[in-house]
Amino acid sequence: MTDTTAINDCISIERTGDVALICIDNPPVNATGQAVRQGLQDAIERLSAEGSARAIAIYAAGRTFVAGADIREFGKPFVPPALPDVFNIIEASKIPVISVLHGTALGGGLELALSTHARIGIEGLKVGLPEILLGLLPGAGGTQRLPRLTGIPFALEMILSGRQVRADEALKAGIIDRLEAGDPREVALKAAQDVVAGSLKTRRTDQIATVPDDAALTETADKLRKTHAHLFSPHKCVEAVAASTKPLSEGLAIERAAFMECMDTPQRSGLIHAFFGERAVSNIPEAKGPAREIAHVGVIGGGTMGSGIATACLLAGLKVTLIEVKQDGLDRGIATISGNLDGAVKRGKLKAEKRDATQAMLTPSLDMQALADVDLVIEAVFEDMAVKKDIFGKLDTICKAGAILASNTSYLDVDEIAASTSRPQDVIGLHFFSPAHVMRLLEIVVADKTAPDVIASGFALAKKLGKVGVRAGVCDGFIGNRILAHYSKTASYLVLDGATPQQVDRALEGFGFAMGPHKVGDLAGLDIGWMTRKRKAANRDPNERYAGAVADRICEEGWFGRKTGRGYYVYEGRDISPNPAVETFIAEEREKAGISPRSFTDQEIVDRYMTAMIVEAARVVEDGTAKRPLDVDMVFLFGYGFPRHRGGPLHYADTIGAAALVDRIKAYAAEDATYWQVPALLEKMAVNGTSFADMNKEA
Ligand code: CAA
Repeated sequence: MTDTTAINDCISIERTGDVALICIDNPPVNATGQAVRQGLQDAIERLSAEGSARAIAIYAAGRTFVAGADIREFGKPFVPPALPDVFNIIEASKIPVISVLHGTALGGGLELALSTHARIGIEGLKVGLPEILLGLLPGAGGTQRLPRLTGIPFALEMILSGRQVRADEALKAGIIDRLEAGDPREVALKAAQDVVAGSLKTRRTDQIATVPDDAALTETADKLRKTHAHLFSPHKCVEAVAASTKPLSEGLAIERAAFMECMDTPQRSGLIHAFFGERAVSNIPEAKGPAREIAHVGVIGGGTMGSGIATACLLAGLKVTLIEVKQDGLDRGIATISGNLDGAVKRGKLKAEKRDATQAMLTPSLDMQALADVDLVIEAVFEDMAVKKDIFGKLDTICKAGAILASNTSYLDVDEIAASTSRPQDVIGLHFFSPAHVMRLLEIVVADKTAPDVIASGFALAKKLGKVGVRAGVCDGFIGNRILAHYSKTASYLVLDGATPQQVDRALEGFGFAMGPHKVGDLAGLDIGWMTRKRKAANRDPNERYAGAVADRICEEGWFGRKTGRGYYVYEGRDISPNPAVETFIAEEREKAGISPRSFTDQEIVDRYMTAMIVEAARVVEDGTAKRPLDVDMVFLFGYGFPRHRGGPLHYADTIGAAALVDRIKAYAAEDATYWQVPALLEKMAVNGTSFADMNKEA
């Protein structure tokens, strides 16, 4: 006989024979929000009080087992019961409790499973403790119970990487006890009956002793101090895992205290903003209608960008036709793609046995007519409006009706490009970032006449390529490069006024950027900025202070950075040292401009640089180039190496506050009133006491 009781909206008990099943049903991912926590506690207590069930199996409805704590509750007032308490109640249950896991058992979901007395995985399962990716540590027993099952080294690696472990590995490591196929409820019923029959053994995790391993702990802690110096939670993870050799209650108390410390950090808030931002960027009301089918892509241009884009498409399983004007250009493109695919195999992004079949999806051609049947063309030739217009005019006559015509331009007017065709509704900007098969950002540039389903197709393509698509409006540089063009001047002004390029780099690396702006310039090629400065020379505001003086001098020597062995730095093998000639250029340029150098602290450098970034980012939001502050944040996290734990420039701006920023800009304006102007949006926010987070909520 079966009898079902709903404990609340998320939890129900099904009693069948001498076993009971607890079902968790909290779409979309069964996160352990308050109702789930309360419901689980009530269900166990009720079944314990009844005393009739001889085994209890917990499983979940829907696409996945529990994907963790409900992240949306973080930072809000806490409503009990707390997860660790619920899990202690489960673990202490006199009636054996087992769990059946399908889909992904992550964070609090895996911790729930670890508190049960046996775990059955359903094929395809992945388990993980991804809290570190949110600036946290597993705070509901994960740092205590996992090492008891797997040993300290495995637990450390799993917790510190946040990676998802596949079912077969989880079985081998002792995280799950059995791997089965089938429907979660059926498997749960059978497993509970097996417990009663004695054919599935159960044991309490707290009664297993962690095997001590001080060497692994010390080695990991030492390594983290070097590699993750500016992050908070990884160090706390090690401290908590170290406590797993103590009795469980003591270890749990240490874990809890460390978890609460992590919860209070701005790093946690930045990383959670990044988590939701990554998902929210594709929520664009103007992207309507079913996306157009894209199976075959044409790429025009076999340079670094075109080859990277072609590689990204091939890796996503799309057919690619690559067009170049001359055979040697085409050969270079094919060779680059081939090298990129080899690299993807090495990085584990492509299975070795699939490599050749992937390359076979590429058709090189010197004839644009080969694009007649493609679903999407991405033009990636050099940045010249006349050339682009000519190409789009040809595409208009060659491509089939409904094909999407995209330009990978990084700053040109997509409206003007669209106007060179008779089908501007099919034209869009798809701005990839180099290397295009690696970098995750894709700016989806919406022109005046771009059709809603073409916009939807841009986002669908981003998803297919594993990229983060961000909607941008048409303007010089779109979201990212436009903001970059503004704030990168600050780095140059700081150097002219007294800092060294190395100090600027070091200060910003201290803030969390992987590389300071001068190292990035050397890596990207100083000639790119030089060309841009020349292009813009005629239209430069005569009142604006010229920022390119030192960089121009370097480029005039034929030094374009890494690729020429010299730029701001000298590159010899693995050695990098400051380029002594640059010091002379700086001194000469200061003298020419009548500047007596002064000193800056690292904090002053960070403040000026970040404020300049925020200023232009605010303008980009104000004029609608970005629809929401979070779009700017995601552009910087996924395309510009902005430190993820800072959440993005506008999330970071909120940590300073609009009023303080306005004061800062006004103070800088006393030195240079042309460059430092308060954006109207920031002024308004300062007056109203609002934040960029408020704007994200309203959008
Ligand atoms: N809390 C709240 N909402 C969540 C969530 C969570 N833990 N995990 C996912 N969601 C939401 C997403 O925001 C998304 O919502 P919208 O549809 O409104 O955008 C929805 O669930 C579906 O998520 P995805 O789009 O990411 O779906 P997916 O199928 O691609 O991936 C997933 C599913 C693998 C579970 C992925 O969502 C994921 O990795 N989630 C986060 C898991 C995590 O970090 N868990 C640890 C939480 S912290 C913790 O547990 C602390 C502790 O120790 C107690």
